[in-house]
Amino acid sequence: MSGYKGPMRVLSGIQPSGGMHLGNYLGAIRKFVELQHEYDCFYCVVDMHAITVWQDPEKLREQTFHIAASYLAAGVDPKIAAIFHQSGVRAHAELAWIFNCVARLGWLDRMTQFKDKAGKDKERASVGLYTYPVLQAADILVYKATHVPVGEDQKQHLELSRDIAGKFNHDFKAENFFPLPEPLIKGPGARIMSLRDGSAKMSKSDDSENACIFLKDGADAIARKIKKAKTDPEPLPSEPKGLEGRPEAANLVGIYGALSGKTDAQVLADYGGQGFGVFKPALADLVVEKIAPIGAELNRLEGDPGYLKSVLDKGAERASEVADKVVREVREIVGFVV
Ligand code: AMP
Ligand code: TRP
Repeated sequence: MSGYKGPMRVLSGIQPSGGMHLGNYLGAIRKFVELQHEYDCFYCVVDMHAITVWQDPEKLREQTFHIAASYLAAGVDPKIAAIFHQSGVRAHAELAWIFNCVARLGWLDRMTQFKDKAGKDKERASVGLYTYPVLQAADILVYKATHVPVGEDQKQHLELSRDIAGKFNHDFKAENFFPLPEPLIKGPGARIMSLRDGSAKMSKSDDSENACIFLKDGADAIARKIKKAKTDPEPLPSEPKGLEGRPEAANLVGIYGALSGKTDAQVLADYGGQGFGVFKPALADLVVEKIAPIGAELNRLEGDPGYLKSVLDKGAERASEVADKVVREVREIVGFVV
């Protein structure tokens, strides 16, 4: 963060483009809950990012409530942290435009998520998908956030946010105006893999029904998916080194460790030498114990859209107070008539 003197602040966001899963929980939402007691926290549902690819309007609204409900069900407290929808705070879009004029084409050309999402026919991708990381930088810096809890896949976007903050500060001779935000990635659960393929990350868009555990899966679905998880015929090793070259086994051990607060070594001290016939039921019990109550609360909250809307509206109002001030300062720095 170099010479930045402002308060420590946390911002993160999740796209309302599908069901929340175990990877989102362990890589992101669980950290949101822990951080709210340490920092001033802003957690948004990034609906403007979601529409960089086509979203059915009715579904988008529903999914936005789903993400907000997931934050709440996991334990984010709206009295402590601001929970809001990105489109409810206009300042994000305003700062994103200014950042579009700071970021360089060459920087965006290097973004791997664009390449993955645009696929082969990138001429047909939306312009929004291309400048997606610039909007993400605006999400973060419109609060002068210093820390950003995310999974490992967001590392490159965070580097771009730092580059944009640094170039803005430099070009406008506004030394330390924006902090250079730090990703908070480390910790167990930063990269949870698909249950059907240990080399692909767990993702809501996985084609295989059993690859991904959703927060809304009940006990039966969780147990079934873990039972069907791909493994190899060997028993578990007694030390982490023995997991090398066994991505599926490593992933299941990693999930067990992330949910139980144990290291891989501790998990293997208990289960080394055992086959998956023993380990999988133990893992299923643990996942059900930790995730099913969140799923039940999520279902309850989704039944009360009026409450969810009031949380988002209040959160957006609170977030706007901070963001509008920063944008006003930016307008002055850039030379707009204010
Ligand atoms: P997404 O679902 O891609 O919008 O991601 C929302 C948040 O969850 C981001 O912070 C991601 O880095 C994180 N995340 C997504 N998938 C995983 C995964 N398989 N393992 C760990 N974190 C993940
Ligand atoms: N790009 C992130 C993802 O795909 C979502 C996101 C948008 C985000 N804005 C953000 C994450 C700001 C952290 C901070 O998961």
